[in-house]
Amino acid sequence: MKITHEQWASKIGFVLAAAGSAIGLGAIWKFPYVAGTSGGGAFLLLFLLFMVLLGYPLLLAEFSIGRFAGSDAVSAYKKISPSSNSHIIGLIGLVTCFIILSFYSVIGGWIIIYIFHAISGSLSRLTVEQYNVFFQELISNPFATILAQLIFMIITIFVIARGIQDGIEKVSRFMMPALLILFILIVVRSLTLENAWEGVRFIFYPDFSKLTTDAILFALGQAFFSLSVGMSIMVTYSSYVPKSQSLPKSAFSVVLMNVFIAILAGLAIFPGVFTYGLEPSAGPTLIFSVLPTVFEQMFAGTLFMILFFLLFLFAALTSAFSLLEMIVAVIIKGDSSKRNKTAWIVGLSVFALGVPSCLSFGVLSNVLIWDKTIFDIADYVTSNILIPLGGLFIALFVAYRFPKQQLLEEIQLGSGVTETFMNIWFILIKYFTPIAIIIVFLDAIGMLSF
Ligand code: PHE
Repeated sequence: MKITHEQWASKIGFVLAAAGSAIGLGAIWKFPYVAGTSGGGAFLLLFLLFMVLLGYPLLLAEFSIGRFAGSDAVSAYKKISPSSNSHIIGLIGLVTCFIILSFYSVIGGWIIIYIFHAISGSLSRLTVEQYNVFFQELISNPFATILAQLIFMIITIFVIARGIQDGIEKVSRFMMPALLILFILIVVRSLTLENAWEGVRFIFYPDFSKLTTDAILFALGQAFFSLSVGMSIMVTYSSYVPKSQSLPKSAFSVVLMNVFIAILAGLAIFPGVFTYGLEPSAGPTLIFSVLPTVFEQMFAGTLFMILFFLLFLFAALTSAFSLLEMIVAVIIKGDSSKRNKTAWIVGLSVFALGVPSCLSFGVLSNVLIWDKTIFDIADYVTSNILIPLGGLFIALFVAYRFPKQQLLEEIQLGSGVTETFMNIWFILIKYFTPIAIIIVFLDAIGMLSF
């Protein structure tokens, strides 16, 4: 048995893989419609503020834990603080990743189905109502959705089975730039539509009167869901980073790319929505029902529709890689000879667990737990309970369990940041992050009612 912890082959490889994990449904699907309806530019400002005050510090915290320990997430906490039970943080992350991937892959499957239909031409020339019917029929079709979910998982398994450099890094180095280029193409097209300005105004014009407490709390939660922090994914990814790379800079690049893509997503979607007189507050169905209508009406629309769903698929896949890698890394503990088999076993188990979530849009739609469908409960438990809890524990771990001298040295390595930077970061992670998370958490479980 040969144990050698793998490494990224290049600096940019790590940054792209981490950005790939971060950029996903959160930035492309959720952010635009919430921003649009919750105060536009005002929401954006708030989101940026939380990214800087909360998301960035947590991301850097996970990066320093991971690189310092140089091992999978469960062992990392053990190594840094052997006498405490901190490795439970890694185990919470593992369970969270398992559940998230089980329902994330359902949506990944839908995207694959859309791409097939867009290519075959059956998505052409429908009205927005017809797209809605198409979407509802699609998600309630058990056979197609389960098959598509399985395909999504198999692609993910293939990549993880190939390891860090040959798998995740290689694919991310192709998918992330491709995603950016496709996005820019679509945004250029969308900004040249007739009423583009109205769409731009919708997401950028700050309307502070619409910043409700709900919107504020959502911006907070979104700051860490969309950066994939709180479940030790970033601990795992940074364990493959060489000591010569700057962690603060890498974290900064990831945050910047994530925000940039979220803004591009808004710019890609709303100009068309306004130009063709559609409903901007359509919410979750915006991407699957409203957007195809937009594409259908523009010149070369089918082509742009295929490109859009393709980039959406890339974004979802690179997030799925990180979810599966976190679990596989914990199980193989650096023994690459176990990687292939473990990736298949874990990946297929995640798929099996995800089948009820998939069916909860059709045959199992009547199965409700606490008034929520299986899919919704999986989403609720992870987004509102497990991720904030993980984030809180990670912040407390860094503040109270990680020997401060070693922590600060780790951040210094390869970065040369100033002492002031580190002091501010430490204060944020020790006081601001825990308090902010506790507020979001209490709200999520219904204990705050403003
Ligand atoms: N950050 C991803 C997104 O915005 C979601 C995600 C969460 C991915 C947690 C991995 C882990 O879609």
